[in-house]
Amino acid sequence: MQTFAENNVEWWKKATVYQIYPRSFMDSNGDGIGDIQGIISKLDYLKELGVEVIWLSPVYDSPNDDNGYDIRDYENIMHEFGTMEDFDLMLAEMHKRGLKLVMDLVVNHTSDEHDWFVQSRSSKDNPYRDFYYWRPGKDGKEPNNWGSVFSGSAWEYDEATEEYFLHIFTKKQPDLNWENPKVREEVYKMMRFWLDKGIDGFRMDVVNFISKVPGLPDGDLQPGQLYADGGKYYLNGPRIHKFMQEMHREVLSKYNIMTVGEMPGTTPEDAVLYTNPERKEVNMIFTFEHMDLDSAPGGKWNLKQLELIDLKDNLAKWQIGLHGKGWNSLYWNNHDQPRIVSRFGNDKEYRTESAKMLATCLHMMQGTPYVYQGEEIGITNVRFEHLADYRDVEILNMYKERTQQGFAYEDIMESIYVKGRDNARTPMQWDDSENAGFTTGEPWIRMNPRYTEINVKQALEDKHSIFYYYQKLISLRKEMDIMTEGDFRLLHREHPAVFAYERTWNNEKLIVLCNFSGENQTIEDAALLEETKKAAILITNYPEEAKEAFALKPYEAVVYFKK
Ligand code: NOJ
Repeated sequence: MQTFAENNVEWWKKATVYQIYPRSFMDSNGDGIGDIQGIISKLDYLKELGVEVIWLSPVYDSPNDDNGYDIRDYENIMHEFGTMEDFDLMLAEMHKRGLKLVMDLVVNHTSDEHDWFVQSRSSKDNPYRDFYYWRPGKDGKEPNNWGSVFSGSAWEYDEATEEYFLHIFTKKQPDLNWENPKVREEVYKMMRFWLDKGIDGFRMDVVNFISKVPGLPDGDLQPGQLYADGGKYYLNGPRIHKFMQEMHREVLSKYNIMTVGEMPGTTPEDAVLYTNPERKEVNMIFTFEHMDLDSAPGGKWNLKQLELIDLKDNLAKWQIGLHGKGWNSLYWNNHDQPRIVSRFGNDKEYRTESAKMLATCLHMMQGTPYVYQGEEIGITNVRFEHLADYRDVEILNMYKERTQQGFAYEDIMESIYVKGRDNARTPMQWDDSENAGFTTGEPWIRMNPRYTEINVKQALEDKHSIFYYYQKLISLRKEMDIMTEGDFRLLHREHPAVFAYERTWNNEKLIVLCNFSGENQTIEDAALLEETKKAAILITNYPEEAKEAFALKPYEAVVYFKK
């Protein structure tokens, strides 16, 4: 395994990534939809935050069934977002400021309007037929019992050729058949097209779904369910590492870039296989385990309170499991997750404190941190009164399905308020003017009504804001090798409200204490208290004070550094 200290090939180990969801970031032309010129106008803001990498959710031509995660043309820009000239300018403007650009790579599926699929569905002997999964029905029903991640069956019948095609996501997102070498060649060619433009990497959408178990066997049907979870036949499938290594050999190895695979259903053991540099696959992956801890069996819409000990055990397992063997990505938020300050923090009386505490807890760990737009100013979840105000296809499909299954309206709405993806997709809040300065038109989705109080302008004016706290965390990571290199040890695992850990490296130590509750908490640990007395406070979200007893205020976070 390579060491990475001064190895600029692994520049992404010291970087913090900022994710832009273009539809909701900044609208430059008043059509209510964010766009590339809008992004360009905010690059100085991102520079000030101190991030070095921008992950841009899809900007490719798309009919927007799933907001760009259904791509119609991989080599063209969505007209609502601008043109290829706008894109080239954006890339140049980023590079001019020392910012790198990581693009979304969505190749488990395309849009059903992609030319490959249009050809594929046209006849059984079309050369593109085998680009997708086509199967005849079984006993008058779907070819197998898999459910789609977005409700209903994972198969759609197509009259033209009287067969079904597979779509793990919506029926407008048919799955590509990676067993077909021509599919892989086309994907690699497209990847080179973007890399040759000078982009700095890829975030690979559900890339561990691309190898399906041959025969596509039925999943285990749970009582009362119409469709089964077929995950065990398509997550981390039999040829996945062959495909990832081939992609690395054919494409990734030729560029100095960063790669992150989005990989639901992955354990730390899997993650080591994907991210150990010797295996030549990807640099890091996104795990979902910590995002599933507040779900009851049956999936994300079945709400459950988070137990802090579960979160500690889980993150510790990933920290320890990958140390020296792979690399973690660190995240609380993205365009698919509710806002963390509302989820694991307190978005009312302790919004600022809890947002900073959560940031501390995550950013002091080993891995590459990701900040999702608005996280750096503590944007909260929303509760829209009417279903008609929601836009996300996952929410709308779930609502339909659960209504049919007899769930109470209030329960369905509550699950949307807590877990719906539109929580993350309300437009960015730039100032307190109408529509938060996001657009002069009608926004494509309603604004979060709290924008008058929570916005970038306010955050930049307040030197104690969440923004400047993130800025400090991001700059500490660049300066302090212990943040990138140190090992991890959980402290006081049994404490129900405090997440405490230490990191050590090269005779240095970080002690991180985070109170996840709205009450004062104490830690009984004389030895640790003594140690902190010999250490300096590196960062804290309350005014600094020497601690006599180990008491933490509501949502307090404090990090000690000792040499
Ligand atoms: C994961 C993406 O993050 C999500 O937004 C999308 O709906 C699915 N993959 C399907 O592409």
